[in-house]
Amino acid sequence: MEVVICKDAQEVGKVAADKVISSLDGVVTPVVGFATGSSPLSLYQELSRRVEAGDCDFSHALGFALDEYVGIERNHPESYASVINRTVVEPLRMDPSRVRVPDGLAEDLQGAADEYDEAIELAGGVDVQILGIGSNGHIGFNEPFSSFSSRTRIKTLTPETREDNARFFPSIDDVPRHCVTQGLGTIMDSHVALMVASGEQKADAIAAMIEGPVSASVPASILQFHPRAFIVIDEAAASKL
Ligand code: GLP
Repeated sequence: MEVVICKDAQEVGKVAADKVISSLDGVVTPVVGFATGSSPLSLYQELSRRVEAGDCDFSHALGFALDEYVGIERNHPESYASVINRTVVEPLRMDPSRVRVPDGLAEDLQGAADEYDEAIELAGGVDVQILGIGSNGHIGFNEPFSSFSSRTRIKTLTPETREDNARFFPSIDDVPRHCVTQGLGTIMDSHVALMVASGEQKADAIAAMIEGPVSASVPASILQFHPRAFIVIDEAAASKL
């Protein structure tokens, strides 16, 4: 793992943007894995600035989101399809038809999840996977005790994650209970894994991920086995290292 500690979230965005761009250097059809949440927003804003400045171009790139809630309409403002559209597709001027989000409304949810993994493989795999981290150490929606070899599948959200995400919904009762998420095995297949985190509320999870044992109780700790894992965090998130 390579760990870079930055002054603040804005610098995290800049350092991580450099890493995204250098990881895609020479790649004919870039395949980028996108995370939702507040952590990668400074990175997406920085990438957007560089697109506007003509320094990079994602119009021919393919994108795959990490996860989606089960049971909320795609056009719900907090569906991850909407969030990815708002924070990634539009600001990075991507082609919406080239960016996929797992289907949380399919009649056959597991069939759609299997097909999602196949689509990633058909695209040649993810060149750079952008990741945030949950306060309980989850990545994507792989909650503690997820299998290290898991592929895209349905998961039940923990009460802690539902509480963390309640800020996006009118009340906790409106937060979905299930999701479809890329598995830890799917994430580990990415060529480069790039995690961004900022703020003191992530400090325990970051310390456990980097300095603790590799353990299913901290799903992100599997990144210790990733051959090209880059962790870009601010001083507050690094405060317990
Ligand atoms: C959600 C997402 C994760 C994200 C996490 C942290 O649970 N499924 O992909 O990393 O939230 O979110 P935030 O960056 O807002 O703290």
